[in-house]
Amino acid sequence: MNPQLDADGRLRHFLDTEGLSRETLTHILDTAESFAEVSEHAVKKVPLLRGKTIVNLFFEASTRTRTTFELAAKRLSADVLNINISTSAAVKGESLLDTLRNLEAMHCDMFVVRHADSGAAHFMARHVQPHISVVNAGDGRHAHPTQAMLDAFTIRRHKPDFENLTVAIIGDILHSRVARSQIAALRILGVPEIRVVAPRTLLPAKPRALGVVPFTDLVEGVHGADVVITLRLQKERMRGALLPSEHEFFQLYGLTEERLREASPDAIVMHPGPINRGVEMDSRVADGPRSVILQQVSHGIAIRMAVMSITLGAIRSEGTT
Ligand code: CP
Repeated sequence: MNPQLDADGRLRHFLDTEGLSRETLTHILDTAESFAEVSEHAVKKVPLLRGKTIVNLFFEASTRTRTTFELAAKRLSADVLNINISTSAAVKGESLLDTLRNLEAMHCDMFVVRHADSGAAHFMARHVQPHISVVNAGDGRHAHPTQAMLDAFTIRRHKPDFENLTVAIIGDILHSRVARSQIAALRILGVPEIRVVAPRTLLPAKPRALGVVPFTDLVEGVHGADVVITLRLQKERMRGALLPSEHEFFQLYGLTEERLREASPDAIVMHPGPINRGVEMDSRVADGPRSVILQQVSHGIAIRMAVMSITLGAIRSEGTT
């Protein structure tokens, strides 16, 4: 049984895109489409989660994910608690479980968690009280499911037919929780060709087992792609010297205007952020006409509104019988 679903098949937690159905992911995208409009209203609020309390627990740094979760919760009229881990009792040695129990005692309804340890969100989901939902905002190298969904949403807005797409993901695939969740989501949504492009040291051991085609040559990997996604070098997760230097990485794998000409003429360029300009991509690409990077950030609000509303039962969940 998928630990994200309750006994009725309802999506209670959102921990990973892997193992969910195409109907569930499509339902999240469709729900987010209706919420995207809310952000364009003069009064950017709907009362769907009035009376609910959502706790943001970020044990790792974040700009985009933390703020868009907070905005999403506020736009749904929920009360939001942002726990500052660096000034919380966690720095005095309090365990994750004890932190959880104490926050539960404050009658909250949802934990949004980012943690350096892979599996932290699953651990929380196993231990929370039955009425509480857990949403994974990124755990170690494992998963970042709302990022994958906002990426899928951005792709669908530009290229609605997932079944006719070639997607190239460039960069540090090995350490990327974003890549893992993106690959799972795009496969479930029907994308027939997903390529991963990186030096051998940054590719997973068995890429074909993940359903992706590996390339070590950037030009070959990008050739004809409809969507080009670049990823940050996850230096904080690298053990040992996997790269000669960032300069050399850019020479071989940095996305430049010239290299982007290999892609389909209407290809879009994405990056989950934060970008290291001059390492993963040239600024002329990051800020150029093909870039949809800031749209990804905006779409994060709508996707997170959808995930919160569905997991808290304010909107019907696909799979409910
Ligand atoms: N994409 C992403 O997770 O960015 P943040 O680390 O700023 O949240």
